Amino acid sequence: MLASKRILLIIGAGIAAYKSLDLIRRLKERGASVTPVLTGAAEEFVTPLSVSALAGEKVYRDLFDLTDEAEMGHIQLSRSADLIVVAPATADMMGKMAAGLANDLASTLLMATDTPVLCAPAMNVRMWDHPSTQRNLKQLQADGIRFVGPNEGDMACGEYGPGRMSEPLEIVAAVEAQLGNGPLKGKRILVTSGPTHEPIDPVRYIANRSSGAQGTAVARALSALGADVVFVTGPADVSPPEGVQVIRVETAQQMSDAVDAALPIDAGVFAAAVADWRMATASDKKLKKSRDGLPLLEFAENPDILKRVSRLDAGRPTLVVGFAAETDNVLEHATAKRARKGCDWIVANDVSPATGIMGGSENAVTLISDEGAEEWPRMDKDAVAQRLAQKIADALTS
Ligand code: CTP
Repeated sequence: MLASKRILLIIGAGIAAYKSLDLIRRLKERGASVTPVLTGAAEEFVTPLSVSALAGEKVYRDLFDLTDEAEMGHIQLSRSADLIVVAPATADMMGKMAAGLANDLASTLLMATDTPVLCAPAMNVRMWDHPSTQRNLKQLQADGIRFVGPNEGDMACGEYGPGRMSEPLEIVAAVEAQLGNGPLKGKRILVTSGPTHEPIDPVRYIANRSSGAQGTAVARALSALGADVVFVTGPADVSPPEGVQVIRVETAQQMSDAVDAALPIDAGVFAAAVADWRMATASDKKLKKSRDGLPLLEFAENPDILKRVSRLDAGRPTLVVGFAAETDNVLEHATAKRARKGCDWIVANDVSPATGIMGGSENAVTLISDEGAEEWPRMDKDAVAQRLAQKIADALTS
């Protein structure tokens, strides 16, 4: 709930601005007050009248409106909020923010504030992937700006990929996580999840049975405790949680790169079932049956993401948590794995088919740490996630 929270909503000039109207309603339903600011070009997408009618407040539109300055100067406007939400945050807006430009009301408010800022980016997929946007994203994250989305999907411009603004309820979840007083507020935590797919040729790949359910539940539980979660997921069966930054990957190498790009973090939870091997060279054409016999697949080793992060010299996260999916001698293998990888905790589970854990809704884990092995009763994956998130909160805040 957002009772008596004050949100300053900056609406950028993108087609996704229409979703901001619904966002205003959703925030107000939860008890927040919303002061809207429209950039000049945003008025091409939504009208000041509809924005102000939904917000029940005056819309701020122009830096040099002398009446506004007399009533509430832009400095005051930017500081009287509990949170500034930029939705949609266009490529142009992110560029200005990263560069420290202040040549209109929205960018001036963002420069003049010491209030936390949450951005919901929305732009064409090529613009999102462009090195300058990615550079700006990195810079803004380093400056402490929070992000929700963008999502992947069909875009208004007819292309497909990451760049769609998060849905209003996803943004609301991120606002709640940001404004709540959970014990993990201000902590940046990375979670890897799901399987990886390693291509053999354009139509075949090597995969595993991970559904991504446990990693998703962990990300959701951490976010509910107020963490700023970066969720790096392989092609999972379950949808990512709302209100976290989602980075979708396919291969182990892409997952490894995404993790590197997300550093520094306070903690990392590595729940992904990463393929240990990939094809030494994936064929760019479909392999055909031949009279010469069966094809020979040559493997190469994938980067061990957990091990690398655990052994970082500079910038090692305060807490690194790995998972150990075993089918036999679970405790023994998991204890050895913890030492080999150098992580702080290992969440060990038995994934032999009889347990029904892989792909199922329940899990039975043993948490292995410096303090020994703690066996948890079999429970719902959400319950495992909540217990783990609480333990992480205790460890990071003690
Ligand atoms: N992991 C990783 N990168 C890899 C392989 C595994 O980050 N290339 C992480 C997993 O996310 C998990 C932990 O390491 O947290 C253990 O994964 P698991 O597959 O059980 O271990 P392996 O390293 O594959 O060891 P083994 O093959 O001996 O079981």
